[in-house]
Amino acid sequence: MSAILAEPKLRLEGVTKEFPAPRTGVRTMAVSDFSLEISAGDFICIVGPSGCGKSTVMNMIAGLDKPSSGRIAIDGVPVTGPGADRGVMFQDYALFPWLTVRENIGFGLRNGTPGRGLSSKDLEDRIDRHVELVRLNGSENKYPHQVSGGMRQRIALARLLANGPDVLLMDEPLGALDAQTRLVLQEELLRIWGETEIREKRKTAVFITHDIAEAVFLADSVVVMSSHPGRIRRVLPIDLPRPRNEQIRADPRFAELHEEIWSLIRDEAYRATV
Ligand SMILES: Nc1ncnc2c1ncn2[C@@H]1O[C@H](COP(=O)(O)OP(=O)(O)O)[C@@H](O)[C@H]1O
Ligand SMILES: [Mg+2]
Repeated sequence: MSAILAEPKLRLEGVTKEFPAPRTGVRTMAVSDFSLEISAGDFICIVGPSGCGKSTVMNMIAGLDKPSSGRIAIDGVPVTGPGADRGVMFQDYALFPWLTVRENIGFGLRNGTPGRGLSSKDLEDRIDRHVELVRLNGSENKYPHQVSGGMRQRIALARLLANGPDVLLMDEPLGALDAQTRLVLQEELLRIWGETEIREKRKTAVFITHDIAEAVFLADSVVVMSSHPGRIRRVLPIDLPRPRNEQIRADPRFAELHEEIWSLIRDEAYRATV
């Protein structure tokens, strides 16, 4: 056995984030002492009540915002800004309405660093592969407003993956979808992430949700956050077998894990509604 421990894919060390209040300028602590290591190929879900700092953590990993203190590194290299190694996906599809499905998927490849140096044939092949991956064949030439919400999120996912990022950062990407579409896309997402592949072929994924069942279904580990200030309450390994399918939702262990997470955030969730 090697004596050298593998560097985690993603490491957050004592990360804090303060925001000045808009009028008073008083600084409030949105995220406090957030430390987490994520191995390559892991699927991590972050859950917690609204306003606990989930998006703030994600934005800092994405390089869209800087920590007030602490360190974030990918493969041991400090994050100083956005990069092609990370792909970000949000709840609102952020698609270009004037571009077709296919043009949306190819946008980053054509206009950003990921497609640089690719021949036009390789570029088209890569777009084709991603259209197929998210099962959008036949809809390539439609515009976003002509397809369903579920399909729009597939487009956003395909565009993200076509750019070839190592790390997928998803902030409530399924939050705007109806319940049935959401369940279907959870399974699709696991397939696309690489659930049926060997671990080395899987992406590293950080997925934010406030839906506990979604977190249990998707994750290798669930990070439960509490608010004011936003910090990690518990990291729970999800010991359910993969690949996961509909039956797993009826597994008694699924219910146990759901209850355990709910009991950690219940009090705060009640407080937030009164
Ligand atoms: N740009 C900002 N300026 C000031 N306060 C912010 C900003 N972004 C987030 N916050 C505050 O930080 C806290 C965490 O927000 P956020 O990360 O969006 O929570 P979550 O995604 O868990 O709902 C909230 O209190 C929010 O009001
Ligand atoms: Mg948020």
